[in-house]
Amino acid sequence: MSRVYRIAVVGGDGIGPEVTREALKVLRSLTAAGGPGFEIREYPFSADHFLATGETLPDGTLEEWEGYDAIYMGAFGDPRVPDMRHAADILLGTRFRMDLYANIRPVRCLDDALCPLKNRSAADIDIVFFRENTEGLYVGMGGNFKKGTADEVAIQEDVNTRKGVERIIRLAFEYARDSGRGKVLMSDKANVLTFGHDLWQRVFKEVSAEFPGIESSHMYVDALAMQLLRKPEQFEVVVTCNMFGDIVTDIGAALQGGLGMAASGNIRPVGTSMFEPVHGSAPKYAGKDYANPMGAILTAALMLDHLGEKEAARRVEEGVARCVRAGKTTADLGGQLGTAAVGDAVCADL
Ligand code: NAD
Ligand code: IPM
Ligand code: MN
Repeated sequence: MSRVYRIAVVGGDGIGPEVTREALKVLRSLTAAGGPGFEIREYPFSADHFLATGETLPDGTLEEWEGYDAIYMGAFGDPRVPDMRHAADILLGTRFRMDLYANIRPVRCLDDALCPLKNRSAADIDIVFFRENTEGLYVGMGGNFKKGTADEVAIQEDVNTRKGVERIIRLAFEYARDSGRGKVLMSDKANVLTFGHDLWQRVFKEVSAEFPGIESSHMYVDALAMQLLRKPEQFEVVVTCNMFGDIVTDIGAALQGGLGMAASGNIRPVGTSMFEPVHGSAPKYAGKDYANPMGAILTAALMLDHLGEKEAARRVEEGVARCVRAGKTTADLGGQLGTAAVGDAVCADL
């Protein structure tokens, strides 16, 4: 008998709940088609919930989630909460406090029609990004002095630890080795960030020496941004810090057909991991049955793969690819379907 996985789900804000609904629909179709089973528990944490109750991520939730096989989140961000307080607790809180140190963002283009580059095709775009997910500019160390005056000082610290840098770089090399990818590129801005990113340089050199079979190289992040658009085929595995990883994976999303196609996992090798599409809550599309759910569905596939359900993951990815090729897509990909109809099309394929 197939296994039953316990999944904690937070749809979140804006288009988050809508695309999450389609991803869950696909999981249920997989079960109906003889695949694994899922026991889903949905949580209301969102801007709505925060504004109504003052609660963001209640005490004890992360401890509860440790007992699940995976966590799945939609997206967060709401104009009524301009400082993103709820998202800082729910999204960044989960990443940091569960120590989900690897944000893995695969960038694959599923069809030539989605490739935005001149003289390139889908086959040229197949990169896995390893974004450090628990440090850097994201830790929230710093503050304001004389806030709101002409003399204001604002400081936001970039925190890089030996342990944090080493573990993400090592994971990228291990992934390259185990997946048969031949090269790892590390990207930083060590020419300017001469303390924090000098640490990245030294650690990268050390760890790469442990993997003589894997070609290692380096590129400053400004050059990486340019090369991703010029010659994406040169990249296989890219490892970088939290902030640069955030930015270059949106470029990666554009190479896949847009933010509506991009999937991500917030991973730690041992324990419960969390999965979410790369895109945000896109408030202007909320409630309009307009958002592309494929990134959310591919995120579910990434979760299945992580859980060891390789065959189910492959079926979902192939289902999405077939729908793309058949034009069963939302408007961002040139199609005419709504969010729910795309979910239905992927389910029908399964
Ligand atoms: P966004 O990703 O929400 O949207 C940017 C643009 O990308 C949209 O206007 C739309 O054109 C396109 N897009 C994104 N997802 C799409 C989809 N599924 N289908 C079709 N088109 C899609 O980014 P933003 O506008 O910069 O931010 C909106 C809010 O989301 C902000 O509050 C931001 O902080 C938040 N955000 C959250 C996450 C997250 O929860 N992981 C990620 C990014 C942004
Ligand atoms: C992402 C988002 C988040 C990030 C925001 C919403 C905190 O942009 O997941 O890419 O910067 O990590
Ligand atoms: Mn982002």
